Amino acid sequence: MDLCIPLPLPNEELEDIIDKAKDWALMHGVEINTIASGFGWLGPAATNLHKFILQELGVPEKIKNLPDNNALQGICTGMIEAWKIYNDQKAVILFVIEDVTYNICDQRFHEFEIRRLNPDIKVIRRNLTQLAAGAKLGQNKELLMDGYTIAVVYYRSGYEPGQYYSKNEWDARLLIERSLAIKCPSIQYHLAGAKKVQQALAKPEAVTRFLRDEKTIERVKEIFTGLYSLNFDEHGDAAVEMGIANPKKFVLKPQREGGCNNIYGMNVRSFLESTKNKQERVAWILMDRIDPPLQINYQIRPGSDTDTELKELVSELGIFGVIIGDEKTVLINRQVGHMLRTKIATADEGGVASGLGACDSPYLID
Ligand SMILES: Nc1ncnc2c1ncn2[C@@H]1O[C@H](COP(=O)(O)OP(=O)(O)O)[C@@H](O)[C@H]1O
Ligand SMILES: [Mg+2]
Repeated sequence: MDLCIPLPLPNEELEDIIDKAKDWALMHGVEINTIASGFGWLGPAATNLHKFILQELGVPEKIKNLPDNNALQGICTGMIEAWKIYNDQKAVILFVIEDVTYNICDQRFHEFEIRRLNPDIKVIRRNLTQLAAGAKLGQNKELLMDGYTIAVVYYRSGYEPGQYYSKNEWDARLLIERSLAIKCPSIQYHLAGAKKVQQALAKPEAVTRFLRDEKTIERVKEIFTGLYSLNFDEHGDAAVEMGIANPKKFVLKPQREGGCNNIYGMNVRSFLESTKNKQERVAWILMDRIDPPLQINYQIRPGSDTDTELKELVSELGIFGVIIGDEKTVLINRQVGHMLRTKIATADEGGVASGLGACDSPYLID
């Protein structure tokens, strides 16, 4: 049984999202994240803040233009539904955490929200090293840790090799994977979020494996951004030449998560030139560079003395989804909220933590 957050799988709601998103801006998909997606709380918090500001500015009638955002509640409801499916009143939800959680102000609210929605459910937080030392499987492959049975495992860590310090952490991951606990994500969904897999899934014929309705297939494909393999074959060779000829039109991506790993601009050319005959090149994918519409607006950041200057900004919308199922059946599949990040137009990546982006909320206009 897998629980995966966030992953908006195509359904009727997806069509609705695409419609709305097309109204907001030209939409191009950057990626699907299937592990440790942040801002479930900061997304709704930004909406609440903007509602407050509109009220303070004396224009409460404009508040209706901010779409509702219940991402935190939706994500936590998904975890609680998974906990219910596991069907053991005493079992707990495990958050697999980093040694130091920098976005704790986002993450901790998931725990508080679970407690608010169902006070009977306990959340425990452990890092992979602690799990390696203490976790074991019970007689029926229950995941046991410190006297608790784990119903649901929610990974906020474990998405990059550096978080597995030794074989012990990998062993812990394997143990969890083999257990009865419902994983968010399971290894299959984790892999589905890998850049190389997304490149394979974005091939035109791949969508038809998962969707039947022609119209939906066409609409889903419309938001795809060109993704090219750099394999040693004619397609890969053509992609290498394309990147070298027009580096500013592409982004190079390795199989990494967490931001700041991609290569942009003229570095695309130098990287491709230096690796084009090396095996390493197949570990990367090439992607069309998205050129989002510019907006002139303010960006407020702590310690900044340019807050009152108008700047050219671009926004990135994230949609949260919950899917629960096993290899045969999808039990739950719905979108549960959103988050918007807005960054300075000249920045390649939009990280809020890196100081270039800010939490934002969409404002709908006719
Ligand atoms: N094709 C693209 N065109 C323009 N910017 C991109 C593109 N792909 C990624 N980015 C920027 O880089 C950021 C990180 O890229 P992403 O693929 O999401 O990597 P990660 O999984 O490490 O977050 C995105 O949020 C976006 O700001
Ligand atoms: Mg990602």
